[in-house]
Amino acid sequence: MVEIHEITAEETYLIRKEVLRKNMDLPFQFSGDHDKDTFHLGLFESKKLISVVSFMKTNNHLFLKDQYQLRGMATLECFQRKGYGKMLISRAEKILKKNKVKEVWCNSRIVALDFYTEQGFQIIGEEFQISQIGGHFMLNKKILY
Ligand SMILES: CC(C)(COP(=O)(O)OP(=O)(O)OC[C@H]1O[C@@H](n2cnc3c(N)ncnc32)[C@H](O)[C@@H]1OP(=O)(O)O)[C@@H](O)C(=O)NCCC(=O)NCCS
Repeated sequence: MVEIHEITAEETYLIRKEVLRKNMDLPFQFSGDHDKDTFHLGLFESKKLISVVSFMKTNNHLFLKDQYQLRGMATLECFQRKGYGKMLISRAEKILKKNKVKEVWCNSRIVALDFYTEQGFQIIGEEFQISQIGGHFMLNKKILY
């Protein structure tokens, strides 16, 4: 059985470490993890945490005033391409809508670009590098009401 619910920042850390920080000496904790407006979602299959994502309220001048940044999106390797990431984003969008958020944005690794564009995100601007990880693009998605 698949379930999605809010989890703590600490609960995201194992999957962040394993999937996003494998063989990298980069922090798996993000500033903003414990901010009052931040929320973290987890997808569980048979009670096992499989996929995580975090959303943080931001103030980036490129985007509308009521905006959130999507961070730390990761699905355990053996469970990728089963639609779980998509289910998490879709649930998150319901929460964002309830909170009257107008726009969501993220920085995506090149390997994950198709995942985000598939969920309606659009690439903005030029490629940029993040040390140890590689090329990234910024993407945004306006929440439609
Ligand atoms: C990117 C990631 C989070 C996607 O999670 P997922 O649970 O595998 O995603 P889904 O199964 O819901 O994929 C939904 C759709 O996105 C697209 N997609 C997902 N992964 C893709 C990939 N590697 N290549 C191309 N398209 C992809 C596909 O259209 C897919 O639908 P389909 O399988 O029916 O074709 C996951 O692959 C992952 O954790 N990757 C490593 C960490 C990472 O790069 N995270 C993003 C940091 S910016």
